[in-house]
Amino acid sequence: MAVLGILSVTLEVPELETGVRFYTDAGLTADITGNVARLRCPNQTRHSVELVGGASRKRLHHLALRAENLAGISARVVQAGGKIVAAPPGFEAAGSWVEDPHGMLIHLSQVPADAPLEAGGSFEINAPGRLVRIRRSAIRPGAAYGPAKPLRLGHVLVFSPDVPKSVRFVIDGLGMGLADRAQDVIAFCCARKNSDHHVIAFAKSPAIGFHHASFQVCDPDEVGRGGRALLAKTGHGDWGFGRHTIGSNFFHYIQDPWGSWFEYYSDMDYIDDHSLWTPTNYDMADSLANWGPAVPPDFVHNYESDADNAPGFGAATAADRVTQDEVRQARQR
Ligand SMILES: [Fe+2]
Repeated sequence: MAVLGILSVTLEVPELETGVRFYTDAGLTADITGNVARLRCPNQTRHSVELVGGASRKRLHHLALRAENLAGISARVVQAGGKIVAAPPGFEAAGSWVEDPHGMLIHLSQVPADAPLEAGGSFEINAPGRLVRIRRSAIRPGAAYGPAKPLRLGHVLVFSPDVPKSVRFVIDGLGMGLADRAQDVIAFCCARKNSDHHVIAFAKSPAIGFHHASFQVCDPDEVGRGGRALLAKTGHGDWGFGRHTIGSNFFHYIQDPWGSWFEYYSDMDYIDDHSLWTPTNYDMADSLANWGPAVPPDFVHNYESDADNAPGFGAATAADRVTQDEVRQARQR
């Protein structure tokens, strides 16, 4: 009677072609019909990102989640502060469409789970007192490696004007669990069974909006190599290579054409049974990363909240600056 995982994110964007180029540069495969592009991981048959072209600016349209017992969820959504709504014109009517308390649209579908990923090679290091690799190199020359191959969409981070309220809704209405949070500024939610540490995360902002979609790759080297390669192609900002405290994953974020982000990740914490997991409320100093490069000034900027006033990347609003200053001050303490 709950959400089981994330399927995709749908964004309205100004120029479809620009978005398709970005995501195919990142390693996804595009299927385009008219002004809609569906982008999938090359090893999957279903899409993870859907772009609808022709909008005046980038905007989160909806998240698609895999769920079971849709009738049970529908019965709880309203009590939890949400709404049951009709399918938007042009979108799949099957399943349930709901809005969270802030009007964020969510499509719930009862569909089979993806096939399990093939086991990757073990990523082991020669550690003090533990030699696992003798008389051979761990790393080959750079040219020996192909482009990064995103294996699956792991999670999406969205903005919320009231993070605790958003979390309450996905727990009470959608049957998810709180994995961890940092005060009331950012929170990470998982499915209650067999879940990555987070499937949906919420970050404080004046309005709802899309922050990033995160794709699993094979190992930390592929995170770093893939991030560098994508940055070289896009020429926008990046943040990484680094490692998060919350969720433990290695990350490299690359800024998309609209100021939001694409993340490659590896080695995420896994929660097989949420009832056996204890959520932690972290200090803000741990909210972004355990280690990594300096955080770009607009990393937590919501370009959907004030796009009309934003001349370009880096134009944070006063409200965004409050959030970023909280993070910065906490890191300096
Ligand atoms: Fe992430």
